Amino acid sequence: MSPDLASNYTHWKLEYDDHNVAWLHLDMADSKVNLLSGEVLEQLRSILEDLESYSPQGVIIQSDKKAGFIFGADIKEFLELDDIAQSQPFLDRGHEIMDKLAALRCPTVSMVKGMCLGGGLELSLACDYIVAADDASTRLGLPEIKLGIHPGYGGTARSIERCGPLPAMDLMLTGRAIPARTAKKINLIDDCVPERQLKQAAITYALEAPKRKRSPLMQRVANSRLLRPLVASQMRKQVGRKAREQHYPAPYHLIDLWQNYASQPKRMLREEARSVAELATSKTAHNLVRVFFLQEQLKSQGKQVDFEPEHVHVIGGGIMGGDIAAWCAIQGYNVTVQDQEPKRLAQTFKRAQASFKKKYKRDRRAIIAAGDRLMPDHKGYGISRADIIIEAIFEDADVKRELYQSIEPRMKADAILATNTSSIRLEDLSSALAQPGRLVGLHFFNPVAKMPLVEIIRGEQTDEAVMQKTLAFGRNIGKLPLAVKSSPGFLVNRILMPYLLEAVTMVGEGVPPEVIDKAATDFGMPMGPIELADTVGLDICKSVAEILSAALDMPLPDNLSAMTNANKLGKKSGEGFYRYRNGKAVKNRSAQHGDIKKVQDRLIMRLLNEATACLREQIVESDDLIDAGVIFGTGFAPFRGGPIHYIRDAGTERLAQRMDELQREYGERFQSDAAWAGL
Ligand code: NAI
Repeated sequence: MSPDLASNYTHWKLEYDDHNVAWLHLDMADSKVNLLSGEVLEQLRSILEDLESYSPQGVIIQSDKKAGFIFGADIKEFLELDDIAQSQPFLDRGHEIMDKLAALRCPTVSMVKGMCLGGGLELSLACDYIVAADDASTRLGLPEIKLGIHPGYGGTARSIERCGPLPAMDLMLTGRAIPARTAKKINLIDDCVPERQLKQAAITYALEAPKRKRSPLMQRVANSRLLRPLVASQMRKQVGRKAREQHYPAPYHLIDLWQNYASQPKRMLREEARSVAELATSKTAHNLVRVFFLQEQLKSQGKQVDFEPEHVHVIGGGIMGGDIAAWCAIQGYNVTVQDQEPKRLAQTFKRAQASFKKKYKRDRRAIIAAGDRLMPDHKGYGISRADIIIEAIFEDADVKRELYQSIEPRMKADAILATNTSSIRLEDLSSALAQPGRLVGLHFFNPVAKMPLVEIIRGEQTDEAVMQKTLAFGRNIGKLPLAVKSSPGFLVNRILMPYLLEAVTMVGEGVPPEVIDKAATDFGMPMGPIELADTVGLDICKSVAEILSAALDMPLPDNLSAMTNANKLGKKSGEGFYRYRNGKAVKNRSAQHGDIKKVQDRLIMRLLNEATACLREQIVESDDLIDAGVIFGTGFAPFRGGPIHYIRDAGTERLAQRMDELQREYGERFQSDAAWAGL
């Protein structure tokens, strides 16, 4: 007898068609998306046990969610895995269930439409066949590496078995999600068909069970015992350019796993579970999971309001305004860009074309469509049509105020005026407006296309509705919006500045820039502070530093002014603290300095101290949001979980003691903020 159709599964539904094919629907209860939570897996186990004794003609797994197929394991459950005694059984259970699915005697088919990620793809790989819809919403990927682990439900061995080691390892090491067509091309899936033919394709595979394609010969050769060490060492080199083993061990574990066990798939499965059990309990994994949730938290800001402007107008087509306009056009908005100098507009459009090409590659239609959405507007006709005006002109309060006075009478009654200022107080600008409540800060970071964060600055007079709409706008243009109180430097520049200034001070003391930068990258920063200052431009650094040093009583090192006076402005002028050749800093790799740990402490402690000051002043709403802002705004070592989290993790008392020592040696700038005591 067939397993009971009305069985009491809360997440799964089982039904049979006329061919006696079992259709297994996943519809996770009380959730918008499907996740492979412990409960979902346990119910699947029990269904599979039923199916083992009643052998149907075939089994087809599908999702009943509109939002997609399966997004992966339930990441929250990972946070509870503190030691191997907990994590090993957790992973073994996943393996047992996937093995059960793989061992069913009848053909099994995963029918994928929408996102199929992580555990969702691993479950599909345990099926005999995978067919996917050829549409824009369908993507397949194994993104576990981004959470400090690698696939742990059989995905390593099974993806390699299907498409060979090079495409499979690339998928796992980058964590990227690919469209169905690409997945078919690399043999990750068996078929990719238009959505209307998806069911029929799944039925055909279930009933006809065709022989599966082998991975290409070249891939099998790369998998051979002889070649693996060579290929693996190349992979390690490539990974090493992005992630160090002591900071991010997962990609290295994955490469070892493949190199050591690729010719024994069963052993590889066991070793995979062991490796992930170990990684899942690491600090790196816990902190990366934390970063994932911080990102979700930012994404949920502004969710309460629906604000979809029909027209965006950008004033100032310089470095920032030009890139903001191009970014908004890529996001689907109609945008006009205004600049007082037509020449700047021409440059803006040239740069925008390059961004469109980078984004859409060879999709000419998409490139043309984005170009059509972006209009040059020297005279500012877009002002009266715009629902939001983004101002990105010179960083000069008088010039900005004058502009506001001239444009306000032409603005729509409920249009928002958003300024990209990086250092001027909003209150000093809103005084020029008849409706000061409509002014909000919308602070992008440079380069706009790469930096995920935008700070949304709440001036003292900013209307709450304007604030909420701007948060929603930040989200709708694909950025992570963070609400920040109006205060000098806002959050990110304020926390970054003491760290940069300490670096510049050390150069003044004779510490080689290379040593300073290495101390920071050893800690896990994506780029050292000296190279960062050179990249941002020493003139810009100096002007932000001056404003902050006046407001926050921060000493300014003399050598910064000396550099700008000598027109050494960094990368853009060909020389700053480094000299630049073909846009790259020329570094002395053998530069040395006595105590690199102390150099690192001086940099990091000043950053941490400023973060605690921001916590005390409630510059953002919570300590988690400070961590989120610093990670997504500066790239602060994600595996450390953010500055406030890092202080607690490393030991508040120990770090406070180190602050005291540095204060004795270097003076007041190392005075611990009062907020340390409460951490
Ligand atoms: P920029 O000097 O490259 O561009 C400013 C543009 O505004 C110029 O093309 C100029 O012709 C135009 N402009 C000046 N006054 C104007 C007016 N009254 N009407 C129309 N156009 C006018 O400057 P950038 O770097 O793009 O900075 C713009 C704003 O963005 C500033 O407030 C700056 O603080 C802020 N910002 C800059 C960042 C950076 O890394 N450059 C990062 C974040 C914010």
